[in-house]
Amino acid sequence: MCTGCTRVRVACTRTRVGWSVVGRVVGVGLTGALAGDVQRAAGGGLVGVRAEQVDRAAAVVVLDLVGAGVVVPALVRIRVLVCGCHEKRVTPLGPPVTVNAVDAQKFETERLFNADYLRFMAGPLGDERSDADAAFIWRLLGLEPGVDVLDLACGHGRIANRLAGRGCRVRGLDYTALFLERARADAAERGVDVEYVQGDMRELPWKGEFDLVVSWFTAFGYFHDDGNRQVLAAAAAALRPGGRFVLDLNNQAAIMNTFQHTVALEQDGDMLVDRNSFDPLTGRNSVERTMIIDGRANRLEYFVRLFPFTELRSWLLDAGFAAVDGYGEDGEPLNFKHRRMIVVARLGS
Ligand SMILES: C[S@@+](CC[C@H](N)C(=O)[O-])C[C@H]1O[C@@H](n2cnc3c(N)ncnc32)[C@H](O)[C@@H]1O
Repeated sequence: MCTGCTRVRVACTRTRVGWSVVGRVVGVGLTGALAGDVQRAAGGGLVGVRAEQVDRAAAVVVLDLVGAGVVVPALVRIRVLVCGCHEKRVTPLGPPVTVNAVDAQKFETERLFNADYLRFMAGPLGDERSDADAAFIWRLLGLEPGVDVLDLACGHGRIANRLAGRGCRVRGLDYTALFLERARADAAERGVDVEYVQGDMRELPWKGEFDLVVSWFTAFGYFHDDGNRQVLAAAAAALRPGGRFVLDLNNQAAIMNTFQHTVALEQDGDMLVDRNSFDPLTGRNSVERTMIIDGRANRLEYFVRLFPFTELRSWLLDAGFAAVDGYGEDGEPLNFKHRRMIVVARLGS
């Protein structure tokens, strides 16, 4: 019976410079052991080992096999000798799929937003978080029953359905058909009435119809900058005079201060590993995402804009908003320690 290493998941993927083995070890202090064993399995040619302890009980290990003389075979055999109970065969993948095509205003949403996304987000975006998010929006903006709300890029309806439950008249727009299906099913279960529409956030079919447009959980910044600006203009056009647009995004100041190169999530033994890199020339955080589900690994790359408050404020003013304020996740004025940046833009009356 293995007591030392409870689980090992590994994926071997092709990177721009060679090969990587990304593994997650659950169990305190196993990082070094896995690195050593993979090194032996790879014939001693391992040159790069980055290991990060994610929390007290888990570590993410990224092993770069890029050294001279290293031949990474089509099939890497990894024997984890911590307790001798794990032996894994992993198959290298092809190059990652790039989700935001670089030369076009195209964003292959279905590669990123699909059943796998919902699977890994089931924990982080569960009922507790979603109830808290809706309560926060209600409180921060002083909402009342009867307010007309558009949930822009509403996903599976976790915010829209809850605001409808509080008495708002809500419409939700999203590009992903599967998420809208889930949103409608959840609305039916809750007995709330929300109109869900499939569409592109850059081209909204509404003019002057809403008191509030909500963009929650980093649902903005997926396009090239003219596409991103189009979203702001479309939101402004959908609002009545005096209407507000609220966006919930990462706070660049805090993210830069405590930048996490590798972030991992585990859900029922499946694993998601994001490797982040920020480019200050474009303001984009690029993410290399590896998911291992039922032992099968796949990999994609996407980027999302990471804004300093002042830049987004300028964009919102350019889009026609009259005033823009910034808050943290506690509703206090934004500071560099807040992880989230809540931006509230108001149209003139
Ligand atoms: C990070 S999720 C956030 C979902 C939701 N706001 C929440 O709080 O759970 C981003 C959402 O943007 C949607 N999306 C991506 N591109 C879109 C587009 N061009 N138009 C509309 N929705 C889009 C995705 O389908 C996904 O539901």
